[in-house]
Parts: sequence; structure tokens; C-alpha cells
Amino acid sequence: MTTKKQQLFDAAKSVRDNAHAPYSKYHVGAALLADDGAVYAGANVENASYPEGWCAETSAIAGLVAAGAKRITEVCVVTKSNPPGTPCGGCRQRLAEFAEADTPVHIANLDGVVRTWRMDELLPGAFKLKGLDVS
Ligand code: THU
Repeated sequence: MTTKKQQLFDAAKSVRDNAHAPYSKYHVGAALLADDGAVYAGANVENASYPEGWCAETSAIAGLVAAGAKRITEVCVVTKSNPPGTPCGGCRQRLAEFAEADTPVHIANLDGVVRTWRMDELLPGAFKLKGLDVS
């Protein structure tokens, strides 16, 4: 039986092949398991105007939201490097918007998952509006 973790890894590895990264040549694939049971995948999309590019995690989140899913229950990010890359600071904040403190974030290279972090290990003290006085 294919586990969710394996399914996420396969999806992230596969979408990574479609990354548009002609400038950094660093291809990233991300896959998110959502509360609707579906897997949403995305790759990094770079641009000739460098700051206009965005990360794989961001692409995947956009798909999840567009489909109407509300929460992220598991994440896998695949890169080719050793050690494999972890989500950047901005993506940690974007993931935290839809995840829980204990949501697993699998970090993988092309051979498989190398390490699994909890969301709150990657981003302790994530900024959340809940509980803040915004009046
Ligand atoms: N990148 C991601 O896709 N996700 C991350 O969390 C870190 C960085 C991309 C952005 C850029 O296209 C390339 O990796 C090199 O920084």
C-alpha cells in the first residue's frame, strides 16, 4: 500500500521536473496533503526579473486554495541537493497559515525523505492574527 508520505514524495518529485528555474538551476517540488484528502503540488517559477519568481511551496498553496481546500495536514519538499533544502522563511510563514504546530514537513532529496520536521520546529512563534488585538 502506498503511504500518504510516499504519495506526497512522488508528487513533489514529479512536479519538480516541471520547475521553471533557468536562472538558479535549483529545481524544487512541493506537495501538500489537504484536509479534503487531495494532494496539491507545485514547482518554483523563476523570472528574468529575479525578484518576481516564487517558490514551489507557494505554487502548491495557490493550487490548494484555488481548489477550495482549507488546511494543510502534511508537506513534502523535494530538491536535489545534499542535504536537501528546507522551506525558506517566507514559505514557512505561508505554510503556517494553513497548518498546525505539529504538521509534518518532510524534506527529501531524489532518493526519498531525509528528515521530517514539525511545522513549529521550522517556524517557532509563527505570526498569527488569532489572539492579537487588531481593533
Ligand atoms: N526555492 C523554493 O522553491 N522553495 C524554497 O523554500 C526555497 C527556494 C526556490 C526559489 C528559487 O527559484 C530557487 O529555489 C533558488 O533559490
